Amino acid sequence: MNTSCATCHHPLAGTGDGLALSVGEGGGGLGVTRDTGTGNDTIHDRVPRNAPHLFNLGAKQFITMFHDGRVTANPAHPSGFDSPDGDNLLSGLDHSLAVQAMFPPTSATEMAGQAGENSVADAAAAGDVVEVWRLLTSRVIAIPEYRDLIIQAYPDISENNIDTDATFVHIANAIGAFEATAFRADNSPYDRYLRGEIQFSQSQRMGYKIFTGYGNCSSCHSGLLQTDYDFHALGIPQIGTGKGDGINGLDDFGREQVTGDSADRYRFRTPTLRNVALTGLWGHNGAYDTLEAMVNHHLNPVDSLNNYDFSQARLAYNIDLSPLDSIVYNDQDSRTALAGAIEISPVQLSPEDVRFFLIF
Ligand code: HEC
Ligand code: HEC
Repeated sequence: MNTSCATCHHPLAGTGDGLALSVGEGGGGLGVTRDTGTGNDTIHDRVPRNAPHLFNLGAKQFITMFHDGRVTANPAHPSGFDSPDGDNLLSGLDHSLAVQAMFPPTSATEMAGQAGENSVADAAAAGDVVEVWRLLTSRVIAIPEYRDLIIQAYPDISENNIDTDATFVHIANAIGAFEATAFRADNSPYDRYLRGEIQFSQSQRMGYKIFTGYGNCSSCHSGLLQTDYDFHALGIPQIGTGKGDGINGLDDFGREQVTGDSADRYRFRTPTLRNVALTGLWGHNGAYDTLEAMVNHHLNPVDSLNNYDFSQARLAYNIDLSPLDSIVYNDQDSRTALAGAIEISPVQLSPEDVRFFLIF
């Protein structure tokens, strides 16, 4: 394993990686210079979606993780959460953020690597997530510094029982607690305005008015964190190698992957807009390389989809994967279906109006 959480969520890249689609285990380098690896280590597939930023995800309101919401709090489930691992999910996780941290190490494309490369990759390839977590826990508690920190952090763990009782839940809760603290960002001009500490400048006031008024942005980007925590189809151009849907398995049906309901096809979670100027690339697959292009997409989504300039897709070159990246986009039927699912109405805003939004 040679990939850390920070490979894709790097503090110097706004807690993302600066790429449209992340390159996981096997890749080399960091940020925009990351490549798809060499020799036997070369990646077998791209990560299908953009690495989102990690700001403010520890907020109580944030009970749903991932662009398609496949991790969410559900008190009716014995573990307290719905997740792709269903009943295999261990209990004792304290927040959806901790639940999320259980998953990257079980994914071949993100952290585990390919079968045959190591024992964790083998367990992941066999679908035995419980074994992945067990193997990783024993690696972590074999490192004296981590061993001591776990004992200090958890009253139920001591030197006597750490080898039998520590689980990946302890590690995931610690990662979640770290993310919630380190990436809390609530000191923007917007926060300070809400706390009555400052007045908006004239242009900020203008942006706020458009955002909550005729721009109609806050009908979805609502509340303190600018999200309704719901899912909508915006028709962001499909780039990359997809999530196994549609033509050659290269499309990504978004929320439908979780609910199995075709009415949810192409829907993705409304993202929070905190620090949005710093957290490019934009859209669930990073298709847009400027914030303006992303906002403009909302204003006239069908036009923007049909006139997408593929050269902005920041994808690490790979001789096998690169030819696949634009297949769905260039397939007329797939694109028509995507355009047909769009749920957002065009809005008339001038380029000046768009610039006013940078208050979050
Ligand atoms: C290879 C790149 C990669 C690595 C390594 C990686 N992530 Fe991610 N992360 C992603 C991508 C891509 C997504 C979005 C996936 C999706 O929504 O389908 C994501 C999603 C998330 C989310 C959900 C954010 C949200 O807004 O819903 C969190 C939290 C997160 N990662 C934390 C972590 C942690 C903690 C680790 C290490 C244990 C980690 N990531 C390792 C790429 C990566
Ligand atoms: C119908 C609900 C809806 C409305 C109205 C809406 N958005 Fe969005 N917005 C979304 C969804 C859903 C996404 C994620 C789409 C995706 O990635 O597929 C998104 C993504 C974004 C992003 C990209 C964030 C990121 O981190 O990648 C920005 C910026 C944004 N919206 C700004 C705006 C602005 C400004 C307005 C008003 C002009 C607006 N939105 C109106 C639902 C909406």
